[in-house]
Amino acid sequence: MTQKSGVMTVPFHVAAVGDEEAQAAADVIRSGWLTMGQRTFEFERRFAAYVGAPHAIAVVSGTAALHLALEAFGIQAGDEVLLPTTTFTASAEVVCYFGATPVLVDVEPRTMNLDPADAARRITSRTKAIIPVHIAGVPCEMDEILTLASKHGLRVVEDAAHALPASYHGTPIGALSEVTAFSFYATKTLTTGEGGMLTTGNDKVAERVRIMRLHGIEREAWKRYSSDGSWFYQVQEAGYKYNMTDIAAAIGLVQLGKCDDLSAARHAIAERYTAAFSKIPSLQVPDEHHDRKTPWHLYVLRLHRDRLSIDRDRFISELKSRGIGTSVHFIPLHLHPFYRKRFGYEPGDFPHAEAEYARVLSLPIYPTMTDAEINAVIHAVADVTHTFRI
Ligand SMILES: Cc1ncc(COP(=O)(O)O)c(C=O)c1O
Repeated sequence: MTQKSGVMTVPFHVAAVGDEEAQAAADVIRSGWLTMGQRTFEFERRFAAYVGAPHAIAVVSGTAALHLALEAFGIQAGDEVLLPTTTFTASAEVVCYFGATPVLVDVEPRTMNLDPADAARRITSRTKAIIPVHIAGVPCEMDEILTLASKHGLRVVEDAAHALPASYHGTPIGALSEVTAFSFYATKTLTTGEGGMLTTGNDKVAERVRIMRLHGIEREAWKRYSSDGSWFYQVQEAGYKYNMTDIAAAIGLVQLGKCDDLSAARHAIAERYTAAFSKIPSLQVPDEHHDRKTPWHLYVLRLHRDRLSIDRDRFISELKSRGIGTSVHFIPLHLHPFYRKRFGYEPGDFPHAEAEYARVLSLPIYPTMTDAEINAVIHAVADVTHTFRI
């Protein structure tokens, strides 16, 4: 919280990191071994245990994890990959890296997650994979998606950038389908500043990803400058420079230890918001899901536009003038110039995604929010809805 000319300002996001993370990073810096090494492997082991996955492979970003998953699947130019239009560009850009086509899919209005029925309609003989994205951390309809994937022989990589810790029908996200990609970007529920993790139960995928994240050199390449390593190495493929550093991993290990508490803090804020906003007729609060757990990466509020004299953009600027930072998740991909020009998408192509996009905004929700900040958000939202009610 900051006070600016007497008005409390609540930023959209502040990372929940502190002295423990700083100490862990400083210890690595002082150790003399900064890049991928023992801290990274410990982070991988503990992360794998946390989500119940046989393999966890640490990388520089969630985008890198998605890219390596598709690479391991053997995606090629001309292939098609299904993914929702409501997502961040990272979910789709990785498909373009291969000269393959991101085939956008409309969303289910309630969750804003990929609609399995619409995905089914868009399958062709060129469709090779599907990327369900757990928007805001709420898991997709994974039973339906996995059934569809196995029926059509599609590979599955879940984009779980928002979904740690989360579960679907009792199974943690990360242990559910062939591959899952997590992000540790600064705003995420577990952060290393930048970072990501790929989990899989497929030994071949794991082996390929371990090699490709470090230049396509065989597995022990990271050791070549350590006292028990060897100078000799063999390049197997033209790989990538996607390995995590031990500095990031040390931060990640501290964050992982706190992950349940960080998630509980977000849940408590979400409960306060829902209790307050469900009483306001012009607002739609996020649904409760009894068969799946979300970490509340985002609290997405929706406006009933017929009950307000202002639109979402003005609602956001009214909140801003009251000191409250917000964001929008997401501008559907088919409305962006790149996807329109390259793939011919147009406004109107995905009616559900567009209808929800016009009325969503994401409120501040992070573990370090104080009571006063939570109250300030509630008060400001209530004030805007009251001022502009019709
Ligand atoms: C849905 C989604 N997928 C993927 C990513 C990419 O993650 P990263 O920033 O770690 O590359 C993000 C990042 O914000 C995201 O929101």
